Amino acid sequence: MARTKVGFLASGRGSNFQAIAEAAGKGQVPIEPVVLVTNVPGAAALERAKALRVPAVVIDHAPYGKDREAWEREVVKVLKNHGAELVVFAGFMRLVTPYFIGQFPNRVLNIHPSLLPAFPGAHGVKDAVEHGSKVSGLTIHVVDASLDGGPVILQKAVPVKDDDTEETLAARILEWEHRLYPLAVRLVAEGRVAIEGRRTRIDWRGIDRPTVP
Ligand code: GRF
Repeated sequence: MARTKVGFLASGRGSNFQAIAEAAGKGQVPIEPVVLVTNVPGAAALERAKALRVPAVVIDHAPYGKDREAWEREVVKVLKNHGAELVVFAGFMRLVTPYFIGQFPNRVLNIHPSLLPAFPGAHGVKDAVEHGSKVSGLTIHVVDASLDGGPVILQKAVPVKDDDTEETLAARILEWEHRLYPLAVRLVAEGRVAIEGRRTRIDWRGIDRPTVP
């Protein structure tokens, strides 16, 4: 089966990007990482891309001010020039417009460190700790124009311990992110995810299904 060409968008550390690219390198996920785009000059994800020999491009959003679409047009150009067929947000901290989604309909994925729809936005882990939740987790979903609101592909519940801080809970969630995001990308790349309105139906035949929650 031909490998799906994947473009990554990251704003920071890039550890999920690395987990997916490494899983692809081991033949566990049938994708080819074709480019990493970051909106943050100096983002640590750039170093990881270099180490993984994935082309990386910085498109700083600052000069575009409030014109999101102008920035997105540049990003889409780079993604398409590299042949991206699927776009994976990995710690990408911007909302995209319907223009961007329209360029890759149902082909943009995101990971969020909470059980959506609880705690959307930029502080999903902190908000769960401050709320006093006993359980949080992660959500991998298809991106639509809403904030962290598209159809869910995978979720995993992670316990919140009494003495957790944002850092300790984030680290516990991140371990699962690195295991489940490569799996979700595999499911999409292999055409196993059917989207029916807000719901997805996953074809698990022949795959070890992770224990949920
Ligand atoms: C992850 O916790 C992810 O859920 C959130 O941002 C973090 C990104 O980490 N969207 P990294 O950049 O992949 O290391």
